[in-house]
Amino acid sequence: MARGALLAALGLWIHYLAALCTATATTQATVPRSTIETKRDFEGIQSKFSLRTADEPDDDICYLVPGQEDTMARCNFNHTSKTFVVIHGWTVTGMYESWVPKLVDALYKREPDSNVVVVDWLSRAQQHYPVSAAYTKLVGKDVAIFIDWMEEQFNYPLDNLHLLGYSLGAHAAGIAGSLTKTKINRITGLDPAGPNFEYAEATTRLSPDDADFVDVLHTYTRGSPDRSIGIQKPVGHIDIYPNGGGFQPGCNLGEALRLIAEKGLADVDQLVKCSHERSIHLFIDSLLYEDKPSLAYRCNTKETFEKGLCLSCRKNRCNNLGYTVNKVRAKRNSKMYLKTRSQMPYKVFHYQVKVHFFGKVNVTKTNQPFLVSLYGTADESKNIALILPEISTNKTYSSLVYTEINIGDLLMLTLQWEKESIFSWSDWWTSYAFDIQRVRVKAGETQKKMVFCSRDGISHLTKGKEAVVFVKCTAKPNNTDTGDQSRP
Ligand SMILES: *[C@@H]1O[C@H](CO)[C@@H](O)[C@H](O)[C@H]1NC(C)=O
Ligand SMILES: *[C@@H]1O[C@H](CO)[C@@H](O)[C@H](O)[C@H]1NC(C)=O
Ligand SMILES: *[C@@H]1O[C@H](CO)[C@@H](O)[C@H](O)[C@H]1NC(C)=O
Ligand SMILES: *[C@@H]1O[C@H](CO)[C@@H](O)[C@H](O)[C@H]1NC(C)=O
Repeated sequence: MARGALLAALGLWIHYLAALCTATATTQATVPRSTIETKRDFEGIQSKFSLRTADEPDDDICYLVPGQEDTMARCNFNHTSKTFVVIHGWTVTGMYESWVPKLVDALYKREPDSNVVVVDWLSRAQQHYPVSAAYTKLVGKDVAIFIDWMEEQFNYPLDNLHLLGYSLGAHAAGIAGSLTKTKINRITGLDPAGPNFEYAEATTRLSPDDADFVDVLHTYTRGSPDRSIGIQKPVGHIDIYPNGGGFQPGCNLGEALRLIAEKGLADVDQLVKCSHERSIHLFIDSLLYEDKPSLAYRCNTKETFEKGLCLSCRKNRCNNLGYTVNKVRAKRNSKMYLKTRSQMPYKVFHYQVKVHFFGKVNVTKTNQPFLVSLYGTADESKNIALILPEISTNKTYSSLVYTEINIGDLLMLTLQWEKESIFSWSDWWTSYAFDIQRVRVKAGETQKKMVFCSRDGISHLTKGKEAVVFVKCTAKPNNTDTGDQSRP
Protein backbone atom coordinates (compact mmCIF):
# COMPACT_ATOMS: atom_id res chain seq x y z
CA MET A 1 0.00 0.00 0.00
CA ALA A 2 2.60 2.53 1.11
CA ARG A 3 4.93 1.47 -1.64
CA GLY A 4 2.20 1.61 -4.29
CA ALA A 5 1.23 5.14 -3.40
CA LEU A 6 4.81 6.24 -3.27
CA LEU A 7 5.48 4.79 -6.69
CA ALA A 8 2.39 6.47 -8.09
CA ALA A 9 3.58 9.75 -6.64
CA LEU A 10 7.05 9.16 -8.00
CA GLY A 11 5.52 8.50 -11.40
CA LEU A 12 3.94 11.92 -11.30
CA TRP A 13 7.21 13.46 -10.34
CA ILE A 14 9.05 11.76 -13.18
CA HIS A 15 6.34 12.97 -15.52
CA TYR A 16 6.94 16.46 -14.16
CA LEU A 17 10.69 16.25 -14.68
CA ALA A 18 10.29 14.81 -18.16
CA ALA A 19 7.94 17.63 -19.07
CA LEU A 20 10.43 20.16 -17.80
CA CYS A 21 13.19 18.59 -19.85
CA THR A 22 11.18 18.66 -23.04
CA ALA A 23 10.23 22.18 -22.11
CA THR A 24 13.82 23.28 -22.02
CA ALA A 25 14.68 21.28 -25.11
CA THR A 26 12.02 22.73 -27.35
CA THR A 27 12.21 26.31 -28.39
CA GLN A 28 10.05 28.63 -26.38
CA ALA A 29 6.46 28.34 -27.48
CA THR A 30 4.91 31.46 -28.87
CA VAL A 31 2.98 33.45 -26.33
CA PRO A 32 -0.74 33.17 -26.92
CA ARG A 33 -1.78 36.60 -28.14
CA SER A 34 -3.81 38.47 -25.66
CA THR A 35 -7.20 39.58 -26.81
CA ILE A 36 -7.36 41.95 -23.88
CA GLU A 37 -6.58 45.45 -25.03
CA THR A 38 -7.45 47.54 -22.03
CA LYS A 39 -7.12 46.59 -18.41
CA ARG A 40 -10.73 47.56 -17.81
CA ASP A 41 -11.89 44.77 -20.03
CA PHE A 42 -13.09 42.43 -17.32
CA GLU A 43 -14.54 40.08 -19.93
CA GLY A 44 -11.14 38.75 -20.87
CA ILE A 45 -10.26 37.60 -17.37
CA GLN A 46 -9.97 33.84 -17.15
CA SER A 47 -8.39 33.56 -13.71
CA LYS A 48 -10.71 33.23 -10.75
CA PHE A 49 -10.26 34.85 -7.37
CA SER A 50 -11.47 32.69 -4.54
CA LEU A 51 -11.76 34.32 -1.13
CA ARG A 52 -11.07 31.43 1.18
CA THR A 53 -12.14 31.35 4.81
CA ALA A 54 -10.42 30.25 7.98
CA ASP A 55 -13.17 27.70 8.55
CA GLU A 56 -12.92 26.14 5.11
CA PRO A 57 -9.39 26.78 3.85
CA ASP A 58 -9.81 23.93 1.38
CA ASP A 59 -12.87 25.10 -0.50
CA ASP A 60 -13.73 27.69 -3.11
CA ILE A 61 -16.95 29.00 -1.65
CA CYS A 62 -16.99 32.60 -2.80
CA TYR A 63 -15.38 34.31 -5.80
CA LEU A 64 -14.46 37.96 -6.02
CA VAL A 65 -15.35 38.98 -9.56
CA PRO A 66 -13.70 42.12 -10.97
CA GLY A 67 -16.43 44.42 -12.26
CA GLN A 68 -19.04 42.95 -9.94
CA GLU A 69 -18.81 45.15 -6.86
CA ASP A 70 -21.39 43.18 -4.87
CA THR A 71 -19.12 40.12 -4.73
CA MET A 72 -16.87 41.91 -2.23
CA ALA A 73 -19.68 42.25 0.29
CA ARG A 74 -21.11 38.85 -0.51
CA CYS A 75 -17.77 37.19 0.24
CA ASN A 76 -17.27 39.26 3.42
CA PHE A 77 -14.12 40.91 2.18
CA ASN A 78 -12.67 42.96 5.05
CA HIS A 79 -11.62 46.31 3.55
CA THR A 80 -9.57 47.40 6.53
CA SER A 81 -7.32 44.38 6.85
CA LYS A 82 -4.47 42.84 4.90
CA THR A 83 -5.00 40.77 1.79
CA PHE A 84 -2.86 37.83 0.75
CA VAL A 85 -3.08 36.68 -2.84
CA VAL A 86 -1.81 33.12 -3.35
CA ILE A 87 -0.84 32.07 -6.89
CA HIS A 88 -0.21 28.39 -7.63
CA GLY A 89 2.16 26.99 -10.22
CA TRP A 90 2.16 24.41 -12.96
CA THR A 91 0.04 21.36 -12.24
CA VAL A 92 0.05 17.86 -13.65
CA THR A 93 -3.35 16.91 -12.34
CA GLY A 94 -5.27 20.11 -13.00
CA MET A 95 -6.16 20.26 -9.34
CA TYR A 96 -4.93 22.36 -6.45
CA GLU A 97 -1.99 20.79 -4.69
CA SER A 98 -2.26 19.90 -1.01
CA TRP A 99 -0.12 22.85 0.10
CA VAL A 100 -2.79 25.39 -0.90
CA PRO A 101 -5.13 24.85 2.09
CA LYS A 102 -2.12 24.51 4.38
CA LEU A 103 -0.82 27.92 3.37
CA VAL A 104 -4.32 29.46 3.57
CA ASP A 105 -4.80 27.97 7.02
CA ALA A 106 -1.41 29.22 8.25
CA LEU A 107 -2.09 32.74 6.92
CA TYR A 108 -5.41 32.86 8.77
CA LYS A 109 -3.84 31.49 11.94
CA ARG A 110 -1.28 34.30 11.89
CA GLU A 111 -3.59 37.06 10.59
CA PRO A 112 -7.15 36.07 11.55
CA ASP A 113 -8.74 39.25 10.16
CA SER A 114 -6.99 39.10 6.79
CA ASN A 115 -8.42 38.18 3.39
CA VAL A 116 -6.74 35.20 1.76
CA VAL A 117 -7.45 35.05 -1.96
CA VAL A 118 -6.42 32.03 -4.00
CA VAL A 119 -5.99 32.67 -7.71
CA ASP A 120 -7.35 29.78 -9.75
CA TRP A 121 -5.61 29.51 -13.12
CA LEU A 122 -5.70 25.72 -13.12
CA SER A 123 -6.92 25.32 -16.71
CA ARG A 124 -3.97 27.30 -18.05
CA ALA A 125 -1.59 25.69 -15.57
CA GLN A 126 -2.14 22.14 -16.75
CA GLN A 127 -0.85 22.61 -20.30
CA HIS A 128 2.46 21.50 -21.75
CA TYR A 129 5.01 23.30 -19.55
CA PRO A 130 6.16 25.96 -22.07
CA VAL A 131 2.54 26.83 -22.83
CA SER A 132 1.72 27.23 -19.13
CA ALA A 133 4.93 29.20 -18.66
CA ALA A 134 3.85 31.62 -21.40
CA TYR A 135 0.40 31.93 -19.80
CA THR A 136 1.99 33.56 -16.72
CA LYS A 137 1.77 36.83 -18.69
CA LEU A 138 -2.00 36.57 -19.02
CA VAL A 139 -2.42 35.38 -15.44
CA GLY A 140 -0.30 38.28 -14.23
CA LYS A 141 -2.47 40.63 -16.27
CA ASP A 142 -5.65 39.13 -14.78
CA VAL A 143 -4.28 39.61 -11.28
CA ALA A 144 -3.25 43.20 -12.08
CA ILE A 145 -6.77 44.00 -13.33
CA PHE A 146 -8.21 42.49 -10.15
CA ILE A 147 -5.88 44.57 -7.96
CA ASP A 148 -6.49 47.82 -9.89
CA TRP A 149 -10.21 47.17 -9.53
CA MET A 150 -9.90 46.72 -5.76
CA GLU A 151 -7.94 49.94 -5.53
CA GLU A 152 -10.09 52.05 -7.82
CA GLN A 153 -13.47 50.72 -6.80
CA PHE A 154 -12.94 50.38 -3.06
CA ASN A 155 -9.89 52.55 -2.37
CA TYR A 156 -8.26 49.43 -1.08
CA PRO A 157 -4.70 50.47 -0.10
CA LEU A 158 -2.07 48.40 -1.89
CA ASP A 159 0.14 48.81 1.19
CA ASN A 160 -2.02 46.05 2.59
CA LEU A 161 -1.40 43.69 -0.29
CA HIS A 162 0.97 40.75 -0.26
CA LEU A 163 1.23 38.38 -3.24
CA LEU A 164 2.65 34.91 -2.71
CA GLY A 165 3.53 32.97 -5.85
CA TYR A 166 4.92 29.47 -6.09
CA SER A 167 6.96 28.22 -9.05
CA LEU A 168 5.30 29.65 -12.21
CA GLY A 169 2.97 31.54 -9.87
CA ALA A 170 5.94 33.61 -8.66
CA HIS A 171 6.48 34.95 -12.17
CA ALA A 172 2.75 35.59 -12.59
CA ALA A 173 2.92 37.60 -9.35
CA GLY A 174 5.89 39.53 -10.70
CA ILE A 175 4.11 40.37 -13.94
CA ALA A 176 1.01 41.43 -11.96
CA GLY A 177 3.18 43.71 -9.84
CA SER A 178 4.73 45.32 -12.91
CA LEU A 179 1.28 46.11 -14.38
CA THR A 180 -0.66 47.57 -11.45
CA LYS A 181 -1.17 51.34 -11.42
CA THR A 182 0.15 51.59 -7.86
CA LYS A 183 3.00 49.51 -6.57
CA ILE A 184 2.11 46.48 -4.49
CA ASN A 185 3.56 46.32 -1.00
CA ARG A 186 5.17 42.92 -1.15
CA ILE A 187 5.69 39.88 -3.35
CA THR A 188 7.09 36.65 -1.97
CA GLY A 189 8.47 34.29 -4.60
CA LEU A 190 8.42 30.67 -3.45
CA ASP A 191 11.03 28.83 -5.51
CA PRO A 192 10.20 30.70 -8.74
CA ALA A 193 10.30 28.40 -11.77
CA GLY A 194 13.62 28.15 -13.59
CA PRO A 195 12.94 26.64 -17.05
CA ASN A 196 12.20 29.40 -19.61
CA PHE A 197 12.86 32.09 -16.96
CA GLU A 198 16.51 31.78 -15.93
CA TYR A 199 17.65 33.87 -18.89
CA ALA A 200 14.43 35.79 -19.45
CA GLU A 201 14.30 39.58 -19.29
CA ALA A 202 13.31 41.09 -15.96
CA THR A 203 9.99 42.32 -17.40
CA THR A 204 8.80 38.79 -18.14
CA ARG A 205 9.70 37.24 -14.78
CA LEU A 206 9.75 38.12 -11.08
CA SER A 207 12.15 41.01 -10.41
CA PRO A 208 12.78 43.57 -7.63
CA ASP A 209 10.88 46.25 -9.60
CA ASP A 210 7.60 44.40 -9.22
CA ALA A 211 6.80 45.49 -5.65
CA ASP A 212 8.08 47.74 -2.88
CA PHE A 213 9.66 44.65 -1.47
CA VAL A 214 10.34 41.31 -3.12
CA ASP A 215 11.64 38.37 -1.08
CA VAL A 216 12.45 35.02 -2.61
CA LEU A 217 13.13 31.52 -1.31
CA HIS A 218 15.20 29.27 -3.58
CA THR A 219 14.91 25.62 -2.58
CA TYR A 220 15.43 23.43 -5.66
CA THR A 221 18.03 25.05 -7.88
CA ARG A 222 19.81 21.93 -8.93
CA GLY A 223 21.74 21.13 -12.09
CA SER A 224 22.74 23.37 -14.95
CA PRO A 225 20.86 26.69 -15.03
CA ASP A 226 18.67 25.75 -18.02
CA ARG A 227 17.57 22.52 -16.32
CA SER A 228 17.07 23.74 -12.78
CA ILE A 229 13.47 23.53 -11.58
CA GLY A 230 13.88 26.60 -9.40
CA ILE A 231 15.44 29.75 -10.81
CA GLN A 232 19.07 30.02 -9.70
CA LYS A 233 19.79 33.70 -10.02
CA PRO A 234 18.59 36.20 -7.42
CA VAL A 235 15.38 37.91 -8.55
CA GLY A 236 14.30 39.87 -5.45
CA HIS A 237 15.55 42.39 -2.93
CA ILE A 238 16.39 39.47 -0.70
CA ASP A 239 17.05 35.98 -2.03
CA ILE A 240 17.39 33.20 0.51
CA TYR A 241 18.98 29.87 -0.41
CA PRO A 242 18.13 27.45 2.44
CA ASN A 243 20.70 24.65 2.70
CA GLY A 244 22.52 26.12 -0.28
CA GLY A 245 19.33 26.22 -2.34
CA GLY A 246 20.09 23.07 -4.31
CA PHE A 247 18.34 20.31 -2.47
CA GLN A 248 16.58 20.13 0.88
CA PRO A 249 17.23 17.81 3.83
CA GLY A 250 14.69 15.03 4.18
CA CYS A 251 14.01 14.99 0.45
CA ASN A 252 16.00 11.94 -0.58
CA LEU A 253 14.13 8.72 -1.18
CA GLY A 254 15.43 6.88 1.88
CA GLU A 255 14.31 9.70 4.12
CA ALA A 256 10.95 9.76 2.34
CA LEU A 257 10.38 6.06 3.07
CA ARG A 258 11.37 6.55 6.69
CA LEU A 259 8.90 9.42 7.05
CA ILE A 260 6.12 7.39 5.47
CA ALA A 261 6.81 4.56 7.90
CA GLU A 262 6.72 7.06 10.74
CA LYS A 263 3.90 9.38 9.75
CA GLY A 264 1.85 7.54 7.20
CA LEU A 265 0.95 8.56 3.70
CA ALA A 266 -0.86 11.82 4.32
CA ASP A 267 1.92 13.95 2.97
CA VAL A 268 3.19 11.75 0.18
CA ASP A 269 2.70 14.32 -2.59
CA GLN A 270 4.67 16.74 -0.51
CA LEU A 271 7.59 14.33 -0.40
CA VAL A 272 7.56 13.91 -4.14
CA LYS A 273 7.98 17.57 -5.04
CA CYS A 274 9.84 17.84 -1.83
CA SER A 275 12.64 20.34 -2.42
CA HIS A 276 10.62 22.60 -4.75
CA GLU A 277 7.68 22.70 -2.37
CA ARG A 278 9.90 23.14 0.69
CA SER A 279 9.87 26.87 -0.10
CA ILE A 280 6.17 26.95 0.81
CA HIS A 281 6.58 24.93 3.98
CA LEU A 282 9.41 27.17 5.11
CA PHE A 283 7.09 30.13 4.69
CA ILE A 284 4.29 28.33 6.54
CA ASP A 285 6.81 27.59 9.30
CA SER A 286 7.51 31.32 9.63
CA LEU A 287 3.78 31.96 10.02
CA LEU A 288 3.10 29.24 12.57
CA TYR A 289 6.28 29.20 14.65
CA GLU A 290 6.56 32.86 15.57
CA ASP A 291 8.75 31.94 18.52
CA LYS A 292 11.18 29.98 16.35
CA PRO A 293 12.22 32.35 13.58
CA SER A 294 14.89 31.06 11.21
CA LEU A 295 17.70 33.50 10.57
CA ALA A 296 19.42 33.72 7.18
CA TYR A 297 22.83 35.30 6.67
CA ARG A 298 24.17 37.23 3.73
CA CYS A 299 27.09 35.52 2.05
CA ASN A 300 28.82 35.64 -1.32
CA THR A 301 28.90 31.91 -1.86
CA LYS A 302 27.52 28.83 -0.19
CA GLU A 303 31.09 27.53 0.19
CA THR A 304 31.99 30.55 2.31
CA PHE A 305 28.82 30.00 4.33
CA GLU A 306 29.82 26.37 4.94
CA LYS A 307 33.02 27.68 6.53
CA GLY A 308 30.95 29.59 9.04
CA LEU A 309 32.38 32.88 7.82
CA CYS A 310 29.06 34.65 7.22
CA LEU A 311 27.30 34.61 10.59
CA SER A 312 27.24 38.38 10.95
CA CYS A 313 24.18 40.49 11.64
CA ARG A 314 25.89 43.84 11.25
CA LYS A 315 24.48 46.24 8.67
CA ASN A 316 21.49 44.03 7.89
CA ARG A 317 23.65 41.07 7.00
CA CYS A 318 21.18 38.72 8.67
CA ASN A 319 17.43 38.62 8.30
CA ASN A 320 14.39 36.57 9.25
CA LEU A 321 13.25 34.02 6.75
CA GLY A 322 9.60 34.31 5.71
CA TYR A 323 6.76 36.38 7.01
CA THR A 324 8.64 38.65 9.41
CA VAL A 325 11.52 39.48 7.06
CA ASN A 326 12.97 42.96 7.55
CA LYS A 327 12.38 44.91 4.38
CA VAL A 328 15.96 45.65 3.52
CA ARG A 329 16.51 46.84 -0.01
CA ALA A 330 20.14 46.30 -0.84
CA LYS A 331 21.53 48.07 -3.86
CA ARG A 332 22.64 44.82 -5.32
CA ASN A 333 20.77 41.55 -4.99
CA SER A 334 21.78 39.92 -1.78
CA LYS A 335 22.07 36.18 -1.49
CA MET A 336 21.43 34.78 1.95
CA TYR A 337 21.97 31.33 3.38
CA LEU A 338 20.93 29.19 6.33
CA LYS A 339 20.66 25.57 7.38
CA THR A 340 17.37 24.00 8.38
CA ARG A 341 15.98 20.84 9.91
CA SER A 342 14.30 18.33 7.61
CA GLN A 343 10.88 18.91 9.21
CA MET A 344 8.87 21.69 10.73
CA PRO A 345 9.86 23.58 12.85
CA TYR A 346 12.82 24.10 10.55
CA LYS A 347 14.91 26.34 12.78
CA VAL A 348 18.51 25.46 13.66
CA PHE A 349 21.23 27.32 15.58
CA HIS A 350 24.36 28.21 13.64
CA TYR A 351 27.90 28.39 15.06
CA GLN A 352 31.24 29.24 13.57
CA VAL A 353 33.97 27.09 15.08
CA LYS A 354 37.55 28.18 14.50
CA VAL A 355 40.56 26.06 15.46
CA HIS A 356 44.31 26.47 15.04
CA PHE A 357 46.14 23.16 14.57
CA PHE A 358 49.65 23.33 16.06
CA GLY A 359 52.20 20.67 15.22
CA LYS A 360 55.92 19.95 15.10
CA VAL A 361 55.84 18.21 11.73
CA ASN A 362 54.19 19.35 8.57
CA VAL A 363 51.09 17.29 7.91
CA THR A 364 48.25 17.96 5.50
CA LYS A 365 45.15 15.76 5.48
CA THR A 366 41.98 16.15 3.45
CA ASN A 367 38.32 15.41 4.23
CA GLN A 368 38.80 14.68 7.88
CA PRO A 369 35.80 13.65 10.00
CA PHE A 370 35.29 15.33 13.36
CA LEU A 371 32.63 15.25 16.04
CA VAL A 372 31.75 18.38 17.94
CA SER A 373 29.67 18.41 21.12
CA LEU A 374 28.23 21.62 22.50
CA TYR A 375 27.20 22.01 26.14
CA GLY A 376 25.18 25.06 27.12
CA THR A 377 23.20 26.63 29.93
CA ALA A 378 19.93 25.15 28.68
CA ASP A 379 20.83 21.89 26.95
CA GLU A 380 23.49 20.03 25.07
CA SER A 381 23.99 18.79 21.53
CA LYS A 382 26.37 15.88 21.20
CA ASN A 383 28.42 14.46 18.35
CA ILE A 384 27.64 16.86 15.56
CA ALA A 385 29.43 15.44 12.54
CA LEU A 386 31.74 17.76 10.68
CA ILE A 387 34.07 17.20 7.73
CA LEU A 388 37.01 19.54 7.33
CA PRO A 389 37.99 19.57 3.65
CA GLU A 390 41.63 20.16 4.62
CA ILE A 391 43.72 20.44 7.75
CA SER A 392 47.36 21.38 7.80
CA THR A 393 49.96 22.02 10.49
CA ASN A 394 50.03 25.52 11.98
CA LYS A 395 46.99 26.72 10.13
CA THR A 396 43.61 27.98 11.33
CA TYR A 397 40.38 26.46 10.03
CA SER A 398 36.87 27.70 10.33
CA SER A 399 33.72 25.67 9.90
CA LEU A 400 29.97 25.95 10.27
CA VAL A 401 28.42 23.78 12.98
CA TYR A 402 24.66 23.71 13.48
CA THR A 403 22.18 22.03 15.72
CA GLU A 404 18.42 22.02 16.12
CA ILE A 405 18.83 22.01 19.90
CA ASN A 406 18.65 25.32 21.70
CA ILE A 407 21.53 24.86 24.12
CA GLY A 408 21.31 28.40 25.54
CA ASP A 409 24.69 30.03 26.14
CA LEU A 410 27.59 27.79 25.23
CA LEU A 411 29.66 26.78 28.28
CA MET A 412 31.86 23.97 27.06
CA LEU A 413 32.64 22.01 23.93
CA THR A 414 34.47 18.87 22.97
CA LEU A 415 36.24 17.97 19.78
CA GLN A 416 36.94 14.48 18.52
CA TRP A 417 38.95 13.50 15.46
CA GLU A 418 37.48 10.35 14.00
CA LYS A 419 39.10 7.65 11.96
CA GLU A 420 37.81 7.42 8.42
CA SER A 421 35.39 4.60 7.90
CA ILE A 422 37.62 3.14 5.21
CA PHE A 423 40.69 1.39 6.58
CA SER A 424 43.85 3.23 5.72
CA TRP A 425 47.38 1.82 6.09
CA SER A 426 48.88 5.23 6.66
CA ASP A 427 46.52 5.79 9.59
CA TRP A 428 47.44 2.40 10.95
CA TRP A 429 51.18 3.12 10.89
CA THR A 430 51.14 6.71 11.96
CA SER A 431 49.24 8.33 14.75
CA TYR A 432 48.25 11.78 13.61
CA ALA A 433 47.85 14.44 16.23
CA PHE A 434 47.63 18.19 16.56
CA ASP A 435 47.95 20.45 19.57
CA ILE A 436 45.07 22.80 20.20
CA GLN A 437 45.06 25.66 22.68
CA ARG A 438 41.82 27.38 21.96
CA VAL A 439 38.61 27.07 20.04
CA ARG A 440 36.90 30.27 18.96
CA VAL A 441 33.15 30.18 18.56
CA LYS A 442 30.68 32.66 17.20
CA ALA A 443 26.97 32.01 17.66
CA GLY A 444 24.92 33.28 14.73
CA GLU A 445 21.59 33.52 16.53
CA THR A 446 22.92 35.44 19.56
CA GLN A 447 25.87 37.07 17.77
CA LYS A 448 27.99 36.19 20.82
CA LYS A 449 31.70 35.50 20.37
CA MET A 450 33.38 33.19 22.82
CA VAL A 451 36.80 31.64 23.30
CA PHE A 452 37.26 28.19 24.78
CA CYS A 453 40.55 27.04 26.25
CA SER A 454 42.09 23.69 26.79
CA ARG A 455 41.91 22.80 30.48
CA ASP A 456 45.56 21.78 30.41
CA GLY A 457 46.84 24.77 28.49
CA ILE A 458 47.25 22.61 25.43
CA SER A 459 45.19 19.67 24.27
CA HIS A 460 46.49 16.82 22.22
CA LEU A 461 43.93 15.91 19.58
CA THR A 462 44.77 12.47 18.20
CA LYS A 463 43.06 10.86 15.29
CA GLY A 464 40.91 7.94 16.37
CA LYS A 465 41.26 8.77 20.08
CA GLU A 466 38.90 10.24 22.66
CA ALA A 467 37.43 13.73 22.52
CA VAL A 468 39.28 16.68 23.99
CA VAL A 469 37.51 19.20 26.18
CA PHE A 470 37.49 22.98 25.96
CA VAL A 471 36.03 25.19 28.66
CA LYS A 472 35.35 28.90 28.82
CA CYS A 473 38.67 30.68 29.20
CA THR A 474 38.89 32.29 32.61
CA ALA A 475 41.27 35.09 31.65
CA LYS A 476 40.86 37.32 28.67
CA PRO A 477 43.06 35.61 26.14
CA ASN A 478 45.53 37.18 23.78
CA ASN A 479 44.41 37.98 20.30
CA THR A 480 47.12 35.88 18.72
CA ASP A 481 46.96 32.16 18.76
CA THR A 482 50.71 31.79 19.01
CA GLY A 483 52.59 32.41 22.24
CA ASP A 484 50.78 32.81 25.54
CA GLN A 485 50.92 29.26 26.68
CA SER A 486 50.52 30.10 30.34
CA ARG A 487 47.05 30.17 31.73
CA PRO A 488 45.88 30.87 35.22
C1 LIG B 1 -11.88 43.67 9.80
O1 LIG B 1 -10.53 43.69 10.20
C2 LIG B 1 -10.26 44.53 11.30
C3 LIG B 1 -8.78 44.50 11.53
O2 LIG B 1 -8.08 44.82 10.36
C4 LIG B 1 -11.03 44.04 12.51
O3 LIG B 1 -10.80 44.91 13.59
C5 LIG B 1 -12.50 43.95 12.18
O4 LIG B 1 -13.17 43.35 13.26
C6 LIG B 1 -12.72 43.13 10.92
N1 LIG B 1 -14.13 43.21 10.54
C7 LIG B 1 -14.88 42.15 10.42
C8 LIG B 1 -16.29 42.39 10.01
O5 LIG B 1 -14.48 41.01 10.62
C1 LIG C 1 54.43 25.44 14.12
O1 LIG C 1 54.54 26.56 14.96
C2 LIG C 1 55.21 26.32 16.17
C3 LIG C 1 55.28 27.61 16.96
O2 LIG C 1 54.14 28.34 16.84
C4 LIG C 1 56.63 25.80 15.93
O3 LIG C 1 57.23 25.45 17.15
C5 LIG C 1 56.55 24.58 15.03
O4 LIG C 1 57.84 24.15 14.68
C6 LIG C 1 55.77 24.88 13.77
N1 LIG C 1 55.65 23.66 13.01
C7 LIG C 1 56.12 23.51 11.77
C8 LIG C 1 55.89 22.21 11.15
O5 LIG C 1 56.65 24.41 11.16
C1 LIG D 1 56.66 23.30 7.13
O1 LIG D 1 56.24 23.88 5.91
C2 LIG D 1 56.47 25.27 5.85
C3 LIG D 1 55.99 25.77 4.50
O2 LIG D 1 54.85 25.11 4.12
C4 LIG D 1 57.94 25.57 6.00
O3 LIG D 1 58.15 26.97 6.01
C5 LIG D 1 58.45 24.97 7.30
O4 LIG D 1 59.83 25.14 7.39
C6 LIG D 1 58.12 23.49 7.37
N1 LIG D 1 58.51 23.00 8.67
C7 LIG D 1 59.10 21.81 8.88
C8 LIG D 1 59.42 21.46 10.28
O5 LIG D 1 59.33 21.04 7.95
C1 LIG E 1 49.85 37.99 25.74
O1 LIG E 1 50.96 37.17 25.42
C2 LIG E 1 52.23 37.76 25.66
C3 LIG E 1 53.31 36.76 25.27
O2 LIG E 1 53.06 36.25 23.98
C4 LIG E 1 52.37 38.16 27.12
O3 LIG E 1 53.58 38.84 27.31
C5 LIG E 1 51.21 39.04 27.54
O4 LIG E 1 51.28 39.30 28.92
C6 LIG E 1 49.89 38.36 27.20
N1 LIG E 1 48.80 39.26 27.53
C7 LIG E 1 47.69 38.86 28.15
C8 LIG E 1 46.66 39.89 28.38
O5 LIG E 1 47.56 37.70 28.53
